[in-house]
Amino acid sequence: TVNEKILCIADLKEAGSKRLTPEARDFYNSGSTDQVTINENSVAYSKYRVRPRVLVDVSKCDTTTEVFGQRIAFPLSVSPTGLQAMAHPDGELATSKACAKAGVNMGISSYTNHTVGQIREAGLSVGPVNHAMQLYTMRDRNLELRIIREAEERGCKAIFLTADSPVLGMRFNEWRNDFRTPPGFGFPMLELTSEKIRSASHDSTFLAFNDDSHNWTRDIPWLRSVTKMEIWVKGILTAEDTLKAIEMGCDGILVSNHGGRQLDGVPATLDALPECVEVAAGRIRIHVDGGVRTGTDIFKALALGAECVWVGRPTLWGLAYDGQKGVELMLQILYNEFKRCMQLTGCNSVRDITRACLGAPRPDGP
Ligand code: FNR
Repeated sequence: TVNEKILCIADLKEAGSKRLTPEARDFYNSGSTDQVTINENSVAYSKYRVRPRVLVDVSKCDTTTEVFGQRIAFPLSVSPTGLQAMAHPDGELATSKACAKAGVNMGISSYTNHTVGQIREAGLSVGPVNHAMQLYTMRDRNLELRIIREAEERGCKAIFLTADSPVLGMRFNEWRNDFRTPPGFGFPMLELTSEKIRSASHDSTFLAFNDDSHNWTRDIPWLRSVTKMEIWVKGILTAEDTLKAIEMGCDGILVSNHGGRQLDGVPATLDALPECVEVAAGRIRIHVDGGVRTGTDIFKALALGAECVWVGRPTLWGLAYDGQKGVELMLQILYNEFKRCMQLTGCNSVRDITRACLGAPRPDGP
């Protein structure tokens, strides 16, 4: 039974992690190599202090914003993470329902344990919800095309092309544990059965599917030619690549370092965000993920120019803790914290959250 008092995401991390096997916990919670980037993703938020305006009537504070042309309850969405059934048997179905209930969007990983159709239907059975289909460039172009067609047919709004993963990062924990997908779970998107997945390590499955010859000039125009969905690039960390995404006509970028799971030593996403925002000068939509654990973190990312923030691991902790209810709890915590932060800084709409709401970044900590 679930009886701990979960007041914040740190509580949820502790309670959710306890319910996982050591292998699953390592797989979800770790970053790559020395864990530098995963830690900095969160530490970066603590470098900024909020500058509140007081004696503002905040009784009608409006947290909503627009993403993919539609209103969401607040500027947060759920990042695509693979293998959610390892946290709870309902996996992505539970996540989709929780997102629909909370009024936010969800990214669907290529490594889900349920099909896009099942995930869409689960969410829509609760209420309106939008999904982005996360995609890797695949060695098997026909498989990639089947995933795109299915996502479009099922009503996904966007392709999120993950650009930071031509190969897998250095995942020492997975290799030490010889991590295998637990028995009984398939990867239907990749048309892989449980037995087939378990016969290989995660690393070799990934290398067999992902095309390390992916590139801007081949893959973005190809995506445009095969789908009407929006095209976003996930995994950008520099002004140069922001300009490239604009030049290639992408609809948006997600400033992301894959939650510190790909190349360790790349910047925290909050530190990379300002150069991307500055060079874009409003010409492309910019979202960010990595290390967001409080409502004030969401506020800080918006103040630095992000339109919306996404969270990966908090969803997995919510699922592990209590399935759909746990993800609802995670979203409720972040919603409440974000709204309180807006009200306590005198912001009545997300448009009021500007650079003036933050001080200068303090130097890196020890
Ligand atoms: C991920 N992430 C990810 N990204 C992606 O594009 N495709 C995927 O299949 C996965 N799978 C995945 C699994 C797990 C266990 C984690 C933790 C992450 C990265 C994810 O979309 C997102 O960028 C990060 O999780 C954001 O950082 P936080 O919020 O986890 O700190």
